[in-house]
Amino acid sequence: MAKLWGGRFTKNTNELVEQMNASITFDQKLLDEDIQGSIAHVNMLARCGIVTEGESEKIKDGLKKVHQKLNDGEVSYSIAHEDIHMNIESLLHDEIGPVAGKLHTARSRNDQVATDMHLYLKKQVQHLMGLLKSVQEAIVKQASEHVNTILPGYTHLQRAQPVSFAHHLLAYFWMFQRDLERMADSLKRINILPLGAGAIAGTTFPIDREMVAEELGFDAIYPNSMDAVSDRDFIVEFLSHASILMMHISRLSEELIIWSSQEFQFVELDDAFCTGSSMMPQKKNPDIPELLRGKTGRVYGHLMGLLTTLKGLPLTYNKDMQEDKEGMFDTVETLTMALEVLAPMLLTMEVKKENMYQAVRNDYSNATDLADYLVRKGTPFREAHEITGKAVLYAIQKQKSLLDLSLEEYYQFSNLVDNDIYAAIEPEQVVAARNNMGGTSQEQVKKQLEMAEQILNEDG
Ligand code: ARG
Repeated sequence: MAKLWGGRFTKNTNELVEQMNASITFDQKLLDEDIQGSIAHVNMLARCGIVTEGESEKIKDGLKKVHQKLNDGEVSYSIAHEDIHMNIESLLHDEIGPVAGKLHTARSRNDQVATDMHLYLKKQVQHLMGLLKSVQEAIVKQASEHVNTILPGYTHLQRAQPVSFAHHLLAYFWMFQRDLERMADSLKRINILPLGAGAIAGTTFPIDREMVAEELGFDAIYPNSMDAVSDRDFIVEFLSHASILMMHISRLSEELIIWSSQEFQFVELDDAFCTGSSMMPQKKNPDIPELLRGKTGRVYGHLMGLLTTLKGLPLTYNKDMQEDKEGMFDTVETLTMALEVLAPMLLTMEVKKENMYQAVRNDYSNATDLADYLVRKGTPFREAHEITGKAVLYAIQKQKSLLDLSLEEYYQFSNLVDNDIYAAIEPEQVVAARNNMGGTSQEQVKKQLEMAEQILNEDG
């Protein structure tokens, strides 16, 4: 098959080289963007008198037909035409004849591919932001039902202090809010037009980049053609934000896995989100959170991969940069699936309030409150800490909780303890007492929920 760049060659391409060089197997994902970019380009060429209106109409018509035929499977891609750009141009030639050759005037694949990637990522980031928001909505929905549900809060995975389950869930709302803000901010750097940079230095034709930017919805135009064709920061940035987001999803998944274990039994994931074991009939495995945790690795891998690919590249375009695509596509697809599954999984999980309550009722996570109680009665905190430590040790030995110790037993440690101690170290009270802004008290958590709801409503 004749190559679009065959003029200066006397031999056919080696077959392995053809395979290695081709990106059509994966960059066909840029079909819509490539067509869209070409239509904007040829509109501009006509407006600037670089091609005639008649030629432009023919080319646009042909592009739409090629688009349609590719979608319907009437024509197919060929490795010999290397990538999406040359496949489309060659199919366009089949469709409308030699006038197809005018489309590439004042353009290079270097500014073309960059434009496609910018268009693609803009669309995908906006879509991912919508999905992320539905995860936040699921969190708020669950949280609003569990303001008064109390479970142990952990540090070092050791019981620390009781917290409201809503408070625990909402921690993830704020992580995802930062992810969303990062993505929104990244659109500033994604929504810039490279087209018009040519291969590296610009073009000799009197083109109008503003017109193309306007038609494609770009807010800005790369001011430097060399930067325009070699910038892949916007993809690195996307992969970084995706990695942070996956890290959050992975931490949440880890908690769901722990919470649904036999040892915790704090939540039960819906059957629709679990799978069984082929050998052990009793098992219900949390495969989905495990996969979300597992898939985090590949997203980090794509970030490291692209950073490494780019680090030694001299300006401007180098073929190495063709390697920017698969990791980006895979990250988009991984994140899309992750967010799509996360929202309904969170909404349908059963929260085992009673088990959570029993856990805090019988642990020592109210010890800080015994110490604070003694402080309020005049004991210096350091001394109160020591007394409480001894009381806890005693209780552990007696296999009792602090709530189960009698006043007589408390007197061994401090004569300041009175009947009001029991109310002070009741789990509900322990939670309610942390009533500063950002604390876990039911009152503060309700305020937090209002803030979260307001944020969800704000940006529509
Ligand atoms: N398939 C190429 C890529 O994705 C398109 C750009 C090719 N440019 C070139 N000068 N060979 O990077």
